[in-house]
Amino acid sequence: MERRSGKELRELFLKFFEEKGCKRYHSFSLVPDDPTLLFTIAGMVPFKPYFLGLKTPEVTRATTAQKCVRTNDIENVGRTARHHTFFEMLGNFSFGDYFKPEIIPWAWEFLTERVGLDPNRLYATVYLDDDEAYDIWHEKVGLPKERIFRLGADDNFWAAGPVGPCGPCSEIIYDQGEKFSCGKPTCTVGCDCDRYLEIWNLVFMQYNRDEAGNLTPLPHKNIDTGMGLERLASVVQSVPNDFETDLFRPIMDKACELVNVKYGEDPKKDMAVKVISDHIRASAFMIADGILPTNDGGGYVLRRLIRRCVRYGRLLGIERPFLTELLPVVRESIGDEYSELIEQASAIEQVLSTEEERFSRTLSQGSDLMDSEIDKLTAAGRNILPGDVAFVLYDTFGFPLELTEEMCEERGITIDKEGFEAAMEEQRERARASSKQTSSVISKNVYTELADKIAPSPFCGYTKTKCEAQVKAIIVDGALAESAAAGTEADLVLSETPFYAEKGGQVGDTGTITAGGMTFEVADTIYPVADLIVHRGRVTAGTVKAGDSVSAEINVERRAEIQRHHTATHLLHEALARVLGKHVRQAGSIVTPTFLRFDFNHFAPVTLDELREVERLVYAEVLKNKPVVTTIMAIEEAKKTGARALFDEKYGDEVRVLDIEDFSTELCGGTHVKNTGEIGLVKIIREEGIGSGIRRITAVAGSSSLPLFQSFGLAVTSMVTMLGGDVETLMSKIESMVDEKKVLERKNRELQVKAAMSDIENSVKPRANAGGVDLIVEKFDDITPDLLRQIGDRIRQKYPNALMLLAGVGEEKRVALTAMASPEIVKLGAHAGTLLKAVAAEMGGKGGGSPTLAQGGAQSSKDLGKAFDAAPKLFEELMTKGK
Ligand code: ALA
Repeated sequence: MERRSGKELRELFLKFFEEKGCKRYHSFSLVPDDPTLLFTIAGMVPFKPYFLGLKTPEVTRATTAQKCVRTNDIENVGRTARHHTFFEMLGNFSFGDYFKPEIIPWAWEFLTERVGLDPNRLYATVYLDDDEAYDIWHEKVGLPKERIFRLGADDNFWAAGPVGPCGPCSEIIYDQGEKFSCGKPTCTVGCDCDRYLEIWNLVFMQYNRDEAGNLTPLPHKNIDTGMGLERLASVVQSVPNDFETDLFRPIMDKACELVNVKYGEDPKKDMAVKVISDHIRASAFMIADGILPTNDGGGYVLRRLIRRCVRYGRLLGIERPFLTELLPVVRESIGDEYSELIEQASAIEQVLSTEEERFSRTLSQGSDLMDSEIDKLTAAGRNILPGDVAFVLYDTFGFPLELTEEMCEERGITIDKEGFEAAMEEQRERARASSKQTSSVISKNVYTELADKIAPSPFCGYTKTKCEAQVKAIIVDGALAESAAAGTEADLVLSETPFYAEKGGQVGDTGTITAGGMTFEVADTIYPVADLIVHRGRVTAGTVKAGDSVSAEINVERRAEIQRHHTATHLLHEALARVLGKHVRQAGSIVTPTFLRFDFNHFAPVTLDELREVERLVYAEVLKNKPVVTTIMAIEEAKKTGARALFDEKYGDEVRVLDIEDFSTELCGGTHVKNTGEIGLVKIIREEGIGSGIRRITAVAGSSSLPLFQSFGLAVTSMVTMLGGDVETLMSKIESMVDEKKVLERKNRELQVKAAMSDIENSVKPRANAGGVDLIVEKFDDITPDLLRQIGDRIRQKYPNALMLLAGVGEEKRVALTAMASPEIVKLGAHAGTLLKAVAAEMGGKGGGSPTLAQGGAQSSKDLGKAFDAAPKLFEELMTKGK
């Protein structure tokens, strides 16, 4: 058999099935468009709707190398030859096209003729009563009966989950040989050991299983096959486990190098290296597909994987951040197939390093807590960690329960999981209680009652700014009223309204509601409960009565400004995604007439250059003056257009899609400009972080940009007037002023020091004398090492026979140490280096040097006094030894 690399095998497979008429698709995302699954767990997942007959595929034959994540066996990773969290599944699919008579012989052809596996080592399994598959294996392929096994549903019935498409399957087994056997007399095909390796699963996708467990035949008979690339590679490359294939070796080698481990010497260390190699691959791919570390769902799995990497790294003795150093080898080993690893390289790097850093900080504290708890347990002769301790570790220190479990396991301790669950439930209960409180306050109010009684008032404000309507309800002081006279603050509900009520970040409209001699000034429009539009304001003339016919007109100018900011938000969203990466998603927004605020996920501050590029992209769209088109369509349709939708938002069956051609498509219920040119200049005025992984941009558009630029202009002109020169030279002027200021500050400091030094000969006294040598130890605040030496020279004039140790306490209480001795006193046995080293050690610092000059320091001045007190004794000891 020819030795082939993982990359070659992937290509061989895809080509083979292309020849069989399958369309080759690039791997679909790890995040499935399927609420029943957290990750894509098999090649068939993206094709589920075709199997179920819910959608018509564009082709009836397909093939992929699909990125998959499965985490149910996470603790087996590294312990066995085959478990991975991330793997590639080579698959081919038939949607009501070819079936058993084709796929079985093709699979055989591929493995024996293309890959060159020894046919005598291959076996097949079929589902108990699947005579059709049995006969094809035996009669068409020619596999002897003793190499075909009929197995039960556990082995030979496959389903992606408890409900959904499923069917009997046939597996192809490769006999790795005697040396892989568990040695039991019963060891044969179907045994769990490594000898009989399942390499390819051919699923005859014929049924749909419903929630009650009933199987109903699917509209068509389909094929779904899956073969783990890593596994195939290990067989072809004749290595005992997947981690030794070329798909992993570069990562394993680099990991070994980083943690200083020789692979193959210590199984425990090998396991840790395997865990790191597996998890880093999975993490990189997850981040590339937009997953970020969080506390639930897929984000939690990612967080757990990264944290396990860090932890296993620590176990192997690496304290510094190291994960990102593995990324180049992850890319190299996987090959060019996955350009997302390159496109998202900086995102991956930043997410990893942020999470690694965050976790490293708490890891030590959490580990200390765990150690002391375990010590307590051991002392008390117990071996179960209380659930509330595990909960504190989870809640406060971010230790996934499974991690605590693993760490405890190493010390023979188990966890009281029920106690943990109870603590968790208590916390949920607290959260529920607090949210109930707020909702019960709302639930009793007049608006809910009103919403039950009257039909929702239609919003006509997408097209109109004014309309005629009836007053359906008046609310004064939280109660329904028949009328409201001039001067009264009230809420009005109308039969129809052009007023947009605050929603989706867009603030509510203002305007007037008038009738005859009555005027009601609308200060805000809100939804106190869903579907009920309330105009909040004040009657300024006449009296408004329930049932009145009125004319409702919004403040058109203000609305226009709001629309400018709203459409600008869409442009910014897309521009941010283009500049920073596809992971950018809206996390919140506010759209007002004078500014907009847009929150989104990103793991690092956005740089000035990036912000400028975002502004440039947005402005280019404005200048193109593109039409802003809204279309109402079915949610399914909208998804097909690739429209952005908000993560947590619940959408109805019909949605409104806002499209700016060739740039942005987003679901949105807000109001917008007709053409992008109306927006005017969009200027970002602020960028900041507002919590873990969320950034906030504040920007202005429309009429608000001009005053901003005018005030910038005014500031610049005033500076030019003040400093002289012109706009071009302004920056360099300011820079030189700042530099000059620094110089002056330094000079000033030096002068102060010099003034202090003038009396130094008199204030400094030896603390000890031994063998004709004086010891001087002194501390000075805010002083440079340079000046310390000058001070030393000064002191020496008065005490020529002094061994001097001087400490300067600088920024953040860091200590700089200098020790000096003249050659004369060195002859008497003094040694600057030895003394400094000993005294520095007393304060947790370091240092050393020659007999005449030594330097060092300590992180904190906390123990400086103690070290100075110890100095005379150390000095005397050294002098005695020196003799
Ligand atoms: N979907 C099948 C599996 O994952 C091929 O084994």
